[in-house]
Amino acid sequence: MKGRVEAIIGAQWGDEGKGRVIDEFGDRFDIFARYQGGANAGHTVIVDDKKIVFHSLPSGMLHHGKLCVIGNGVVLDPELLLTELRELQEKGMDRARLIISRAAHVVMPYHKVLEKAQEKFRGKGYKLGTTNKGISPCYVDKYTRSGLRFEDIINEHKLRSKLEGILEEKNMILTRLYNESPIAFSEVFDSARHWGRELAPYIADTALEINEAINNGKSVLLEGAQGTLLDIDHGTYPYVTSSSPISAGGCIGMGIAPKSIDRVLAVVKSYSTRLGEGPMPTEVNGGIGKYLREKGGEYGSTTGRPRRCGWIDMVALSYSMKINGADAIIITKLDVLTGIDKIKYCTAYEVDDNLYHSFRSEFDFLFEAKPIYEEIPGWSEDISECRRFEELPLPAQNYIRIVEEHCKVPVIFIGVGPQRHQLIDLGF
Ligand code: IMP
Repeated sequence: MKGRVEAIIGAQWGDEGKGRVIDEFGDRFDIFARYQGGANAGHTVIVDDKKIVFHSLPSGMLHHGKLCVIGNGVVLDPELLLTELRELQEKGMDRARLIISRAAHVVMPYHKVLEKAQEKFRGKGYKLGTTNKGISPCYVDKYTRSGLRFEDIINEHKLRSKLEGILEEKNMILTRLYNESPIAFSEVFDSARHWGRELAPYIADTALEINEAINNGKSVLLEGAQGTLLDIDHGTYPYVTSSSPISAGGCIGMGIAPKSIDRVLAVVKSYSTRLGEGPMPTEVNGGIGKYLREKGGEYGSTTGRPRRCGWIDMVALSYSMKINGADAIIITKLDVLTGIDKIKYCTAYEVDDNLYHSFRSEFDFLFEAKPIYEEIPGWSEDISECRRFEELPLPAQNYIRIVEEHCKVPVIFIGVGPQRHQLIDLGF
């Protein structure tokens, strides 16, 4: 019998708390599979007061006997991956088996140099505020068919012949267009050969393995990085990442059929955050924005940059639900809202004296959009020990119901604290 396949995606601008939620699902799935993005992601898990941040590894890595898969849609920085693997080994926490798609692309040192040069060239007006992890230049090479895949770096002969041509072109761009220094072939070749040797045991035909596993009844959790509003097609372009964090991205980035996904779980943070540039209608500078940043620890887990914060945006969320075909919502960080006297939520945008109830991803529309808020009383009780919905203070229950009403999707999990098991399960 076919195994269950579920996709977990971020419904906002990333950093919704997906890593922590996925870690919580350790005993519910056999396979954890990352399908897009790269080390621009930062999935934080807290175990026994120890904070562990995964940038490249799937968040299920801490669970005994599970299979973790890095799919073809991911762009992987081998140096960072090896560091993450080593750290887990040293802590004795490398409990899952890992396989990496032979078709996943390698983030090379020149990708990072190119990205920095490009951002500098763009200047302030058109800067994207990327994470500087070489993600977009790596995806660019994928689509211009001049990328290196893991199948290339585990074969020394192939690596040498491909890299020679690629590096010649990159050096031309670096020196003639961006006025940067060229990169020595021997340096890049030696690093890539080393990565190939170290990672060869992990390289596999992941699409075949995962399909076979599903056919043999194994359950799979497809793990999206970033969030819907950063999607290359459906996000706030050009202020987006270069991959498809939405649920459909799971099919392409892993090589499984759309009809095999049984359920889509959308992770929604109780308020809004955004890292880097781009429109964010409900951003609040100072005041509640600052309060949420400090109380929620809203600093980038990859870059340490402060995240922009504000009230929850129902207009954007209901768009996300549609794009992803969300079946259920997981709310995170509800405890961060404790102690706020009046909680606001955005239900419409005003642009040029017109009221809009539906989202449009064009950035100029969103930059203009003035949020229209409704307001409810907050709560002051500590909710971190609540394990049943009925134990939540009534205003907190009300807030959850309002999210459901606007998204037209049921909430099935509520995060009430950062530790494992600080969750309310409403019938997962
Ligand atoms: P890139 O993915 O590094 O190209 O960055 C593009 C945009 O996506 C920037 O605004 C980043 O701050 C944002 N971004 C990328 N990854 C994440 C993430 O995991 N969480 C939140 N924002 C992200």
